[in-house]
Amino acid sequence: MKISTSILNAENKIKSILELNNTKTSYIHIDVMDGKFVTDTKFNTIKEISDINNNAKRKLDIHLMVENPIEYINKLDNMNIEYVTFHIEVEKNIKEIISKIKSMGYKVGISIKPNTNINKLVPYLKDIDLLLIMSVEPGKGGQEFLPNTIERIKEIKNLIIKNNYNIKVEVDGGINEKTITKLENVDIAVVGSYITKSDNYNARIDTLLE
Ligand code: DX5
Ligand code: ZN
Repeated sequence: MKISTSILNAENKIKSILELNNTKTSYIHIDVMDGKFVTDTKFNTIKEISDINNNAKRKLDIHLMVENPIEYINKLDNMNIEYVTFHIEVEKNIKEIISKIKSMGYKVGISIKPNTNINKLVPYLKDIDLLLIMSVEPGKGGQEFLPNTIERIKEIKNLIIKNNYNIKVEVDGGINEKTITKLENVDIAVVGSYITKSDNYNARIDTLLE
């Protein structure tokens, strides 16, 4: 399993990035919030994201918790980004959003909230690279991992295998040294507070990878 570190709850973002450059995290997870899809507003300016991009020695894993993804995707050109992920719950223009991300040369992720029916993903699976399964309600760091996520990962994994799709599975929210041991068939774990609220990122990431 790979780790994507969420810096949402980090006190000094750039300092955190510099520290993460010396760890085994594979990606830096950036939670973009518009104050509409979720109540908070975070990382919603290009300046903030490009400062991170300029300091990070890891690829960015962008998680758009916004009502209008296209508006944000348009600003993400020329960055060291692996995945741009938006939410299936935006409902509108999903195909157009997928094409837009691809046209910018990035891999496409779709995220799903804990209570959304998994079948909503089916029409888009053939066109995407990543499924980001939320293990908390999106919007805040430091929440508790929802136990029904385990069943949802299994169902989603079955859909992928049955149809022979080449899609990575990522899980986001409440992951720590205990909850990570419950994750099977997961390619990437997004971890925030457990890493960024510690004074030794390396030790925490090594523990997660054990
Ligand atoms: C929640 C965000 C997460 C969050 C994870 O809405 O999408 O990426 O930062 O943080 P922890 O690991 O603290 O739950
Ligand atoms: Zn996230």
